[in-house]
Amino acid sequence: MAEVTLTIDGQRVTVPEGITVLEAARRAGIFIPTLCQDDRLSPWGGCRLCVVEIKGMRGLPASCVTAVAEGMVVETASPAVIEARKEILSLLLANHPQDCLTCSKSGDCRLQDYAYLYGVRGDEYQGERHNYPLEEDNPFFIRDMNKCILCGKCVRACAEVQGRSAIDFAYRGFNTRVTPPLDVTLREAGDCVFCGNCVQVCPVGALTEKQRLWQGREWEFKKVRSICSYCGVGCNITLYVKDGRVVKVTGYENPEVNNGWLCVKGRFGFDYIHSSERLTRPLIRTGERGSGQFREASWEEALDLVAEKLREIKEKHGPESLGVLCSAKCTNEENYLLQKLARGVLGTNNVDHCARL
Ligand code: FES
Repeated sequence: MAEVTLTIDGQRVTVPEGITVLEAARRAGIFIPTLCQDDRLSPWGGCRLCVVEIKGMRGLPASCVTAVAEGMVVETASPAVIEARKEILSLLLANHPQDCLTCSKSGDCRLQDYAYLYGVRGDEYQGERHNYPLEEDNPFFIRDMNKCILCGKCVRACAEVQGRSAIDFAYRGFNTRVTPPLDVTLREAGDCVFCGNCVQVCPVGALTEKQRLWQGREWEFKKVRSICSYCGVGCNITLYVKDGRVVKVTGYENPEVNNGWLCVKGRFGFDYIHSSERLTRPLIRTGERGSGQFREASWEEALDLVAEKLREIKEKHGPESLGVLCSAKCTNEENYLLQKLARGVLGTNNVDHCARL
């Protein structure tokens, strides 16, 4: 692959042709703030926070949508660049609720981080502010469009990753807003599958998981890397744990598997972990089917009973009357053993797997 050499903040950098100035800076260990950029989504260039100064170019180009060129001379933190970033942050904060004290995103908010980094207090401009009602009518997350900074990451994630295009920009100028068609709620519009990938990419507090509300501050959570147990894909996840309880799940950015993206079950369906109805011991039915009457048993007793019943059925109706349903919640090895049991012991090829459901 052809390479180009450029200078970034006085440092000579040789990178592949075609990558952006932002990427080249990152490879050189140079920080440039971003709000709307995400390597996994198409380039947007909307927030302008990543502006840099490039010798010979007019204005301050956005580094996330400007390709490197041979001999380019880039300044990522010149006085003009810093001034522009401060101005952008001041304008964003001019119409942003100043409720970091109670905002769930506090501690994990890019806007908050950058305001602190550049010393922008948010009181530079006084003017009209939005007062949109919260959208809370779905079971999974809250949309607070007063906090939306119009970075468009949710719009692109929905269209490019989930393939739903359930939301887009509507209206113009100051009234521009991300919304489903006809300005109804996500639930009313019906296109959203509530994967929550929009929630994960949101850099501010505009989208918040309901389950994590008032469960703790972001810095109090212990992050535990794990694997989703719902299906055979094996999506990598991060569990957010406080006081021994999982309060939030996000996708872990492992490009080999799910690259951070999740489905509705993997992201929001973790309440079973702490459910009081969760089975922790085998139960043997004592009453009629449907009576709901069970008694606790040991694994030995339960497995003996199952073996006895299977033998009975096989003798009475033949092995073809038996079938085995494996589970994606088991390991590959466990599923392999189960099909061996089906074929080798029960004598049936009726084997299926819940990951196909
Ligand atoms: Fe480059 Fe938003 S990060 S324009």
